Amino acid sequence: MRRKFRKILVTGGAGFIGSAFVRLAVKKGFLPIIVDKLTYAGDLARLKEVSGKFKFYKIDICDKSRLETLFTREKPDAIIHFAAESHVDRSIKDATPFIEANIRGTQVLLDIALKHKIKRFVHISTDEVYGDIEKGKFSEESPLKPNSPYAVSKAAGDLLVKAYVRTFNFPALIVRASNNYGPWQYPEKFIPRAILTVLKNKKIPVYGKGLNVREWLYVEDCALGIWQILERGKIGEVYNLGSGYEEKNIQIAEKILGVMGRCSEGIEFVKDRPGHDIRYSLSVEKILKQTGWRAQTSLDAGLSMTVDWCINNKQWLFGKWEEINKLYK
Ligand code: NAD
Ligand code: TYD
Repeated sequence: MRRKFRKILVTGGAGFIGSAFVRLAVKKGFLPIIVDKLTYAGDLARLKEVSGKFKFYKIDICDKSRLETLFTREKPDAIIHFAAESHVDRSIKDATPFIEANIRGTQVLLDIALKHKIKRFVHISTDEVYGDIEKGKFSEESPLKPNSPYAVSKAAGDLLVKAYVRTFNFPALIVRASNNYGPWQYPEKFIPRAILTVLKNKKIPVYGKGLNVREWLYVEDCALGIWQILERGKIGEVYNLGSGYEEKNIQIAEKILGVMGRCSEGIEFVKDRPGHDIRYSLSVEKILKQTGWRAQTSLDAGLSMTVDWCINNKQWLFGKWEEINKLYK
């Protein structure tokens, strides 16, 4: 059964995946309400193609009193909760903002949503909560064994959501997505960092031996999957969202060099990430069976669109270069 909503509130809507979801919601005729703190990772430029078609509130999700005022005024009936600190390497440098935004922020939002009798709350989580897996795939029933401070903070958020479902009959669902990539991704993450590095005529930094495997999901496919779960998912359930496109990091770097017409000498192996998860892989049978969703974009097509986007949006990407160099110094 397809559920209907009047007003959707998107936290983290100025971020990479949240903004793709907002663009989709606008296409579907909604006027989304965005709540975003605009951290280093948030940028309203991501929403320029839908300008005037959403409402924006610069609010920290930990700020209960400002959220309370917003909920009373806007009366949303569905929440899609993307807002989070999202980068593993930063969580290794300092876990504090991750605990604050991803755990306390989620709890504050849950309390407000409960009080205002929200009809549906979609919590956006990650495959990283399952930990890593050398062979086979994680199902929604797999135990949570997160390894990085980021993954732990997301797993704690998931458990809070589950506790509210069980304790208060709260109408939440959890989405666990695999690694996203595509337009507007902040270039601290591997794929846009690699493309930016090549555009700067430098070598792509690959951690360790480049043998770690990720499952790459094009961001617009991810947004479509989340929409399906919002409309058709069952309350209290968890849904994995993956693409089936798994690659070793070294292969991703080589593909990017290939698309950009450079040779494989453009790779440099650098110090490995501490505690580096070896492989993520998701079973997506559940969402396929319940909604018919599956990823439409092949890895090759997605990488080629992402490279084109980066070339056409060099100014935005180059604007992050110094910050990235500071981060990875
Ligand atoms: P992002 O870092 O690009 O964006 C996060 C957004 O949240 C930013 O706009 C930021 O300003 C905002 N934000 C952060 N803290 C906030 C706070 N306290 N209050 C209000 N806003 C705040 O992240 P993303 O890559 O778009 O990821 C979105 C969600 O999807 C996250 O919950 C992340 O854990 C999850 N996820 C991401 C991936 C991925 O590959 N990027 C994969 C699976 C799941
Ligand atoms: P990342 O994009 O940070 O996502 P996550 O850690 O959440 O999976 O990293 C993806 C993979 O790429 C991961 O195995 C780490 C690796 N990586 C590099 O090899 N070089 C880099 O510069 C970065 C940022 C990541």
